[in-house]
Amino acid sequence: MDQTKTPYFQALLDYVDAGVIPFHTPGHVQGSGMDPSFREFVGDNICAIDLTPMPGLDDLLQPTEAVRDAQELAAQAYGADRTFFLVNGSTSGNQCMMMTAVNPGDKIAVPRNSHKSMLGGLVMSGAQPVYMQPEVDEGLHMDHCVTPQTVSRTLDEHRDLAAVYLVSPTYYGVAADLAEIERIVHGAGKLLLVDEAWGPHFHFHPELPLSATAAKADLSINSTHKMLSAFSQCAMLHQCGGRVRIDRLKSVVKMFLSTSPNLPMVASLDVARKQMATDGERLLSRTIALAREARERINRVEGLYSFGDELKGRPGVFDVDPTKVVVTVRGLGYTGYEVSELLRRRYNIQVELADLFNIVALFTIGTRDEAAERFVTALEEISRDDRPLDMFARSGILDQPRNRRSYRLPKTPPMRMLPRDAFLAPTESVTFRKSKGRICAETIAPYPPGIPVLAPGEEITDEILNYLRLELKAGVRIQGPYDSELRTIRVVKG
Ligand SMILES: Cc1ncc(COP(=O)(O)O)c(C=O)c1O
Repeated sequence: MDQTKTPYFQALLDYVDAGVIPFHTPGHVQGSGMDPSFREFVGDNICAIDLTPMPGLDDLLQPTEAVRDAQELAAQAYGADRTFFLVNGSTSGNQCMMMTAVNPGDKIAVPRNSHKSMLGGLVMSGAQPVYMQPEVDEGLHMDHCVTPQTVSRTLDEHRDLAAVYLVSPTYYGVAADLAEIERIVHGAGKLLLVDEAWGPHFHFHPELPLSATAAKADLSINSTHKMLSAFSQCAMLHQCGGRVRIDRLKSVVKMFLSTSPNLPMVASLDVARKQMATDGERLLSRTIALAREARERINRVEGLYSFGDELKGRPGVFDVDPTKVVVTVRGLGYTGYEVSELLRRRYNIQVELADLFNIVALFTIGTRDEAAERFVTALEEISRDDRPLDMFARSGILDQPRNRRSYRLPKTPPMRMLPRDAFLAPTESVTFRKSKGRICAETIAPYPPGIPVLAPGEEITDEILNYLRLELKAGVRIQGPYDSELRTIRVVKG
């Protein structure tokens, strides 16, 4: 196939060139009905290609023309048997994978540090999670991946599992031993699903971790918008091998897609694939070199640490994505949230993620040399702390003796009900302090990274409450619960 072609983008251009007289959605009619202030800013071209599925522009739900061609090119580029374009992120990808692979009551092994959209998939499918403990790195205050040993033990203990679901890489760029895990899971005759939201670039550079499609995971997802150049919300769902029921997969994807997908987004997926297939290695080589250089300089700064290849071989760390620059700032006495805010307010720099110990800066094919320079220089300056102290004085929150124990990542609480049953059960709101011992009916996830501390069906323990208290004090946003300030928590009634 000719990877220099972008059939979907071309189909939109052809429609515009044809000068068709439009009597169809969207109502802004290629921009002419749009409020001028918005149109002037976003530009005429994006309005002109914001069209709707119709003959010539194909249909994402039932592709027979340009969408089919674009998806086939993507499948070939990724080494998959089939690829589906998604316009609601890997969030919908996780839901599609679960709804395809498992039925109500089926058991599926999942790591506890999965994104909250995995829980959405569990609620929708009615499957029963068997949680696998990822490897905890107390020093860096993060969970890594699950090991092949953990997967193997889980399969031995639960012979009735239908599937194994993995997150690789983590939000912090740590990758699992996918080749070995694939051997184990398929050896046991089970399905392997991989949330590779953070690894859409892996397949296109030999120095990056093995991709899920190269490892022949049955289903895997990529957030093409996260590390590649597609518009926000764009993602791909890949399928490999003959274990998944294709009719089921196709009807699930259809169920999760809008009947009016944003077509510029679909075109941006097509173009992002072409960019990687034709020029990915060169673009990523530059990105990897830039990130490595930044990491080396950061590691010369006292009080800062940015992990790299030396982490490989630690439990749960098979490989590391060099384009994620994770900086552990604990040695400066600041929390990651404080450094993130400092970077934004004092240096106009916005990082992707902050947590209690770390900040994460993404280095992608779009990162400029000057931006990398500004980032490193800002960190050097923060570490010297030679500016008069202002609103950014350290809170010292992590050093207060009563907090020392609670910043440990909490253990998975006991699961008392299936996520679906708890989510759909009659519920009531109780105050945060009175919630101890109750069964949580919602997902509570500090965001970012969006990894649930509590899932529907789990018992609310003291350890969890202490941890959440600390996160709230540190100013983190909580996603999922009805009351995002957590003055109350929704629990199963009775
Ligand atoms: C591991 C993981 N999976 C899935 C998602 C959801 O991806 P999206 O934002 O593309 O819906 C995220 C988002 O951060 C994530 O970190």
